Amino acid sequence: MIKNVAIFASGEGSNAQNIIDYFKASKNIQIALVVSNKSTANVLNRAKNSNIPTLILERHSFFESNEVIEQLNNAKIDLIVLAGFLWLVPKNLIKAFPNKIVNIHPALLPKFGGKGMFGMNVHNAVIEAKEKESGISIHFVNEEYDKGKIISQHKCIVSENDSAEDVAKKIHLLEHEFFPKVIEGLLS
Ligand code: GAR
Repeated sequence: MIKNVAIFASGEGSNAQNIIDYFKASKNIQIALVVSNKSTANVLNRAKNSNIPTLILERHSFFESNEVIEQLNNAKIDLIVLAGFLWLVPKNLIKAFPNKIVNIHPALLPKFGGKGMFGMNVHNAVIEAKEKESGISIHFVNEEYDKGKIISQHKCIVSENDSAEDVAKKIHLLEHEFFPKVIEGLLS
């Protein structure tokens, strides 16, 4: 049976696009749904261009009902992939999808994680701390930001002259290389 993936994303969606492209020709895995908390997020355009159904989250139904769980179950979702998704995942959703929600974080957790640590905030903090390396962490999602069990990490060098934007580029390259493969591994 084909495995169905839902991608949750809040913004640009370059990771979502990369995952969509990676599995486009797959007979075993398909991106069945793209979910966003932001109606203007570019990731929704990307989904539409690939003819993938979309769902826009409404705060109340996401945090205070089981509606979204029902919608995910109706779509027969096997794995939820957070790719730049900025809302905390509520307890009921974590319970409904045990070890079936994964997140990508643009740093080497446990460093530079937690609430407010997303996107450029992370890379700015890495530069400020004069880190010699950074990287990505792919992990299961639990009830706290960036605290679930780590599945894999991949590193890159941060040079003395690198700006936060330079680090962001290196991180995106790592994300695009490894995230689809990890998803594939989890589903096979
Ligand atoms: C990615 O770098 C991802 O690791 C990060 O947001 C970016 C989304 O980029 N996620 C977080 O910071 C979560 N705390 P994209 O929209 O181009 O895929």
